[in-house]
Amino acid sequence: MSIDFKAEIERLKQALDVTVVAHYYQRDEVFEMADITGDSLELARRCKADNNPWVVFCGVGFMGQSVKVIAPEKRVLMPKIACCAMARMIDGSYFDDSVDYMVKHGIDKENILPITYINSDATVKAKVGEMGGYVCTSSNAFKIIEKGLETGKKILFVPDRCLGQNFAIQMGLKSCVIGEGECDPKEADVICFNGFCSVHQLFTVDDIEFYRNKYPGIKIAVHPECDPKVVQAADFSGSTSQLIKYVNELDPEQKVAIGTEYNLVNRMRQKNTYVLSSTKPECPTMNETTLEDLYNTLKSIEDGKPMNEIHVDAHTVKYANLALERMLAIK
Ligand code: 13P
Ligand code: SF4
Repeated sequence: MSIDFKAEIERLKQALDVTVVAHYYQRDEVFEMADITGDSLELARRCKADNNPWVVFCGVGFMGQSVKVIAPEKRVLMPKIACCAMARMIDGSYFDDSVDYMVKHGIDKENILPITYINSDATVKAKVGEMGGYVCTSSNAFKIIEKGLETGKKILFVPDRCLGQNFAIQMGLKSCVIGEGECDPKEADVICFNGFCSVHQLFTVDDIEFYRNKYPGIKIAVHPECDPKVVQAADFSGSTSQLIKYVNELDPEQKVAIGTEYNLVNRMRQKNTYVLSSTKPECPTMNETTLEDLYNTLKSIEDGKPMNEIHVDAHTVKYANLALERMLAIK
């Protein structure tokens, strides 16, 4: 007999002290089962405030890990421990190499203020925390960089070169990317690691021109993980929640093309909403989690054999927590 996964998930949620969390990029059928949804910052804040001892997180690895770091007493399970491709681009040794690069170019280590995008492993966040730095998300990067600049130090921004450059442009700061052309840390305010999101690189200025030619007056809204040329050509850029708010506040007759992950755009899609790409912009790792995986994870709690539990060692929790809490303290 086949299992009715939706009905079983509802039953398990009633029976267990568990909160199901999902990022906007999850498949619709998984997303619909969640108690908490949001962008990365909202998910971190709301999970920390939640009272249930169990969290089942439908998203990518760094998201579940971040919950474990800010609320170590919680038991955090992930139906799939899928790793965000951008987060995988940097580890502790690449982080150290970036610090060394700046030191070799005449910036003392104590004059470097690292900021890591939340899309990074907890070990990278811990190194950032140890150096007095911050985590940021796409919704608060402006405020966090502003806060970092108050120290008078050079900002080392990892791992997303696009996010780092986009906010530097918005703030009128000079930026450069390590390994891309001349990058002299003495000449720049924000020195970026050379990471990126392959999904958001799919959106191009040509796509923007295509839509503007086809539908004069159309608005273009993109995520700040897109290339700086795309963000500069767009009408709006923001985190997933900020994109939803922007689109919801438009006149229903206003056409808008959106540059972010397909599942979210498709969910927002009404008659005047378009995907800003000819290629389906799916995040492979976000799409790994299925309804069956969610059911199996909840069932594993009921059976007393929790699966895919997130563990982070005490040293990493201590220092990664510093970087995350510094971020959460900024309203
Ligand atoms: P948000 O914080 O905007 O939800 O972004 C998460 C992400 O991974 C975007 O690719
Ligand atoms: Fe990571 Fe890009 Fe997927 Fe976001 S869309 S989770 S940055 S790979």
